[in-house]
Amino acid sequence: MSNLKGRSLVEPEDFSLYEMESLFSLAENIEKNDKILSDSCRGRLLATLFFEPSTRTRLSFEAAMLRLGGSCLGFADPGSSSAAKGESLADTVRMAASYADAIVMRNPKEGAALLASRYSCVPVINAGDGGHHHPTQTLTDLLTIRQLVGRIDTLTVGFCGDLKFGRTVHSLAKALARYNKIKMIFISPSELVLPEYIKNVLKKQNVEFIENENLEKSISELDVLYMTRVQKERFFNEDDYIRLKDTYVLNTDRMSLGKKNLIVLHPLPRVNEISIEIDSDPRAAYFKQAKYGMYVRMALLAYILGVV
Ligand code: NCD
Repeated sequence: MSNLKGRSLVEPEDFSLYEMESLFSLAENIEKNDKILSDSCRGRLLATLFFEPSTRTRLSFEAAMLRLGGSCLGFADPGSSSAAKGESLADTVRMAASYADAIVMRNPKEGAALLASRYSCVPVINAGDGGHHHPTQTLTDLLTIRQLVGRIDTLTVGFCGDLKFGRTVHSLAKALARYNKIKMIFISPSELVLPEYIKNVLKKQNVEFIENENLEKSISELDVLYMTRVQKERFFNEDDYIRLKDTYVLNTDRMSLGKKNLIVLHPLPRVNEISIEIDSDPRAAYFKQAKYGMYVRMALLAYILGVV
């Protein structure tokens, strides 16, 4: 029995490196033989409470639970839940916890997942809380790096796009800071730089990082390029969004400056920041990454539900 049984996942640091290693090994075994855990969650219920739009995260959690033999219930649109009648998050979560064995929640408010985990008697998995964190995307990203590069250390990782509101960037940067010899390059317009609180975490852990506004200048140095979408829904002013949305577009000219063994990741959805012509480049790894997301979520559910 693992000690992840019954645990919530709100921020990437909630699990130790050792616990994350166990998750990755199990996910890799499931990828090799997707039958090893089928039926292990029969009779278990997963509640998916999505107060914000999602395709990959919700569907991959549902696919993961169904492939483990369990079932799912929930909503993908808060308009169809009692939140629309004014119910508090604490009450919605208490209800879901009394019906299900675990809860996956996405919410536009920073801190919502932490609050939910305090009111829930079953594990709560944060599937994104506003512009704050998205720890299961980080598990997905780390597993993809481990699979495709073969290591999660001694790497130069570039993050490009909306580093201010991009919760996947915040979670991945904090998580990578715990590994050895990771250099990070943060590429964004000055309006969308990485928040100070994440930079402080990196400084405290003596992580080497630089910030610049120029993708061409940095791409040749990178082992991993993490592209992100400008997060339209977090802008107060539409004109700012329109001005900033196409600052970086990864096209064949820019890709030609990258290393031969570079991998390009993106949490998806992409809007315009990666041209479709890049999809056929062997270094484009974002669709594989989405698939690894399902395997790592299967491993996560199996551990927190205590079936392995
Ligand atoms: C990301 C998210 O929701 O933060 N998507 C995802 O979960 N794969 C990234 C994004 O929406 O840009």
